[in-house]
Amino acid sequence: MLQSGTLVANWNNSNNGLIQEMSEFTMKTFVTMGRGGTGKTSFVALMAKYLIEREKTPLLLVDADPDQNLAEMTGIDLQAAGKKTIAELLSETFIQRGGTTVGVAPSTRIENTIWEQGLYEGKYFDLLSVGTKWIEGCYCLPDAALKNALGTITRNYQFILIDSPAGLEHLNRKIASSVDTIFDVMGPSSKSFQHVKRAHRIIQEVGITFDKFYVIGGYEFPDELSQRAETETGLPYLGKIVNDDTVARYVLAGRSLIDIPDTSPAYQSVTQILEKIIDG
Ligand SMILES: Nc1ncnc2c1ncn2[C@@H]1O[C@H](COP(=O)(O)OP(=O)(O)O)[C@@H](O)[C@H]1O
Ligand SMILES: [Mg+2]
Repeated sequence: MLQSGTLVANWNNSNNGLIQEMSEFTMKTFVTMGRGGTGKTSFVALMAKYLIEREKTPLLLVDADPDQNLAEMTGIDLQAAGKKTIAELLSETFIQRGGTTVGVAPSTRIENTIWEQGLYEGKYFDLLSVGTKWIEGCYCLPDAALKNALGTITRNYQFILIDSPAGLEHLNRKIASSVDTIFDVMGPSSKSFQHVKRAHRIIQEVGITFDKFYVIGGYEFPDELSQRAETETGLPYLGKIVNDDTVARYVLAGRSLIDIPDTSPAYQSVTQILEKIIDG
């Protein structure tokens, strides 16, 4: 629930001392998860469109998937914008400049660099990406750096949308320690029910705190399983993202889903889903 009207303190410790900024909303963090190809990234992009159109900004999009589809699906070319992914920044800071990762916790010292050189700042939303380039082939460090960066956020975003990769390892590494809402986007088979149960359990085991955990039918989720979505998972089911050729065409053409017509059935379904949980 958006607590509009509530005055929230946002401490900003730049500028010699503490400046207390007041804003009219609390920051909400939404995380999308699920198996590969269920439509998570498209869902995040369509959520961004919804929030932008309803002026629920400032908005931060976080691409925590090394495949980096979210930037593309929202029309952003980080490189062209002169911005770097977290993995690139880590690599530059600790490897190319002769640094070492031995015995240090590099993530603790890189947050400022991430906000300065990694944050894409757009008219309608900002974007941060974990990226692919990490020489050790493990995303532990980029994930840890992301988590720390999110912990030192200075701008008071109204919404932060995190697109996470398929699989559950990143949950064990806690890319965010506290989130408001988790969406598990279910795929075309009943295996998705198992995914939801495992994800729900891991999140609790590793101590990620959250307020709401919802299940959503992905665009290939069979209609006949909708009935079971809630009963089998024990979690609230918000509905299904409609299978929509326009989305597939936009993605294939590398076009931003934020520009998809409002009449797109997929966008309409995302709107209906979000109207159930976001005020106004
Ligand atoms: N609502 C939709 N209708 C039709 N096709 C979709 C829809 N959402 C996603 N797709 C297709 O599925 C592919 C995978 O979607 P994506 O959002 O990247 O999934 P994930 O992030 O879960 O891997 C996209 O390339 C697109 O072609
Ligand atoms: Mg994805």
